[in-house]
Amino acid sequence: SQHVSREPLAPLRPAPILPVQSPRPVRLAVRAEGAGDGRSPGRPDRRDCPAECDCPPSFPVAMYCDGRGLTSMPSIPSRIKYLYLQHNHISAVPDSAMVNASNLVWLMLQHNQIHSDAVGRKALLKLERLDRLYLHHNNLTSVPSLPRSLRDLRLNHNSIDKLTAADFEGMDNLTVLYLHNNAISDMGSSLKGLVSLTLLDISGNKLTKIPESLPAHVHQLYLESNSIDSVPEGFLGGFSQLQYVRMAHNQLTDKGIPPNTFNVSGLVELDLSFNQLERIPIVSTTLQHLYLQANQIKEFSLGSFCSFVDISNFSKLRTLRLDGNEISPEDIPSESSQCLRQAFEIEI
Ligand SMILES: *[C@@H]1O[C@H](CO)[C@@H](O)[C@H](O)[C@H]1NC(C)=O
Ligand SMILES: *[C@@H]1O[C@H](CO)[C@@H](O)[C@H](O)[C@H]1NC(C)=O
Ligand SMILES: *[C@@H]1O[C@H](CO)[C@@H](O)[C@H](O)[C@H]1NC(C)=O
Ligand SMILES: *[C@@H]1O[C@H](CO)[C@@H](O)[C@H](O)[C@H]1NC(C)=O
Ligand SMILES: *[C@@H]1O[C@H](CO)[C@@H](O)[C@H](O)[C@H]1NC(C)=O
Repeated sequence: SQHVSREPLAPLRPAPILPVQSPRPVRLAVRAEGAGDGRSPGRPDRRDCPAECDCPPSFPVAMYCDGRGLTSMPSIPSRIKYLYLQHNHISAVPDSAMVNASNLVWLMLQHNQIHSDAVGRKALLKLERLDRLYLHHNNLTSVPSLPRSLRDLRLNHNSIDKLTAADFEGMDNLTVLYLHNNAISDMGSSLKGLVSLTLLDISGNKLTKIPESLPAHVHQLYLESNSIDSVPEGFLGGFSQLQYVRMAHNQLTDKGIPPNTFNVSGLVELDLSFNQLERIPIVSTTLQHLYLQANQIKEFSLGSFCSFVDISNFSKLRTLRLDGNEISPEDIPSESSQCLRQAFEIEI
């Protein structure tokens, strides 16, 4: 009683960790010009707000300079904690730009044109309270010197082509690291010691193998769109909290996947679509979503899901995509319903 769906299934992306943005303040007309001096003892001086930015009186620790066509860094009053500079044409972050910025907690610099050689060696390093740094969609070719306090670092969509062991060293609190869509061919030992990392996205690079020393506590590991053809024995065995593994659009073959690689409990979603697999790999009965479309799978092997079936022992698989392979719905054995009794979407 399989429901063979024709609807293409969207891969289930866990909700991205979005910044909890404070509501965007409406520009208030009361700033400076003539309205007294805008100051009273103990209140922040609003006149230190650069003309090209907004510093809402209701949120005196934030400065909004996003999408203003800026080509250089504005001056930054020292009270500012949340700085929005995204979607400009800023190409350089010199040390001098950050002299007053030591209270920054969030720095949003995504969608600019920042080049690695135009980032002062100490410019970011000195921001010792920085928690979130967004540098995605820039022109970086290497990882700048960064403060160790970061929790959320986004460097995706740059042209980073090499990493060093020092790049993320000592970032004990780093939880989210986005490095996707760069030109990295080897992670080296750059990930070593990221004890708090839960989300690692290194998809869309030039990796040919699984990076060594992957952080032990990752929940989400995204490796799709690289050139990985094999995985090491016991590759997923060492992770205690891994739930989402995405390796679509690589060059995986059956030969490159040791038996039981993906038979690890705890996994919720496994995406191996757009590879060169000829068999369905053995997966754990706890897996819920398995994407295998666009491989070269020739048989529906029920044993990949259940080695044994009884009243309490069956696959928890809910989504199974097998379209774009060399099998058809008739290849599903009738006893499958015993094993795959929770599958509500099987696409062949
Ligand atoms: C730093 O603060 C001083 C004093 O408020 C100010 O004169 C200067 O322009 C600021 N520099 C930058 C780069 O923000
Ligand atoms: C910077 O990156 C953008 C998009 O990634 C690219 O279009 C542009 O040519 C790059 N600019 C330079 C000067 O490298
Ligand atoms: C990590 O966070 C803790 C608690 O907020 C803090 O004490 C520690 O200094 C941080 N570590 C780094 C490397 O900044
Ligand atoms: C998967 O692993 C479990 C426990 O480690 C084992 O009992 C089971 O036989 C394996 N599944 C298959 C299909 O080999
Ligand atoms: C299901 O069967 C497998 C293989 O015999 C076994 O390893 C596993 O512990 C069983 N699980 C449950 C929930 O009984």
